[in-house]
Amino acid sequence: MTVALQDNTHTTAKTNVALTPVVSVVKKIRFSAAHYYYLPQLSESENKARFGLCANTHGHGHNYDLCITVSGPMDPQTGMVVNLKDLKHILEETVMRQFHFKNINLDVPYFKDKLPTLEHLVVYFWQELNNALTPLSLQLSALRLYEDDTLFVDYWGEIMIEGQQ
Ligand code: NI
Repeated sequence: MTVALQDNTHTTAKTNVALTPVVSVVKKIRFSAAHYYYLPQLSESENKARFGLCANTHGHGHNYDLCITVSGPMDPQTGMVVNLKDLKHILEETVMRQFHFKNINLDVPYFKDKLPTLEHLVVYFWQELNNALTPLSLQLSALRLYEDDTLFVDYWGEIMIEGQQ
């Protein structure tokens, strides 16, 4: 009887791959804005019952803190993952200009028919920031949005769910 011997050894092809450090840079910005929670399809009393004082359409204000995490390899020449000058410009255009000292319900078209909850806000910021960062080959990896010292949301982007349209 002949037994074939299996060769379990593997050879590794030589490549030009090298390890590089990946660093996450977190930038925190603050903006002050007003908002209110009011669903037009509900009556005044239903809105008050559901949202309490937040249903007052004259609005109320918050000092929001947004923490933006950008991750990636460091530029070997500068030691930077992201040039903070570029990031500052993007944050000015996408967040501050649209939201600082604004009434979110009235001044930001996206929130014309959406409640400006922390959840909706963080998803909106992700879309806006991702659109601005991608052309610079920068990876947005997390957002944290504080409404005050006791309440915040974290967001890491969308996931694919099978069977959902
Ligand atoms: Ni509020």
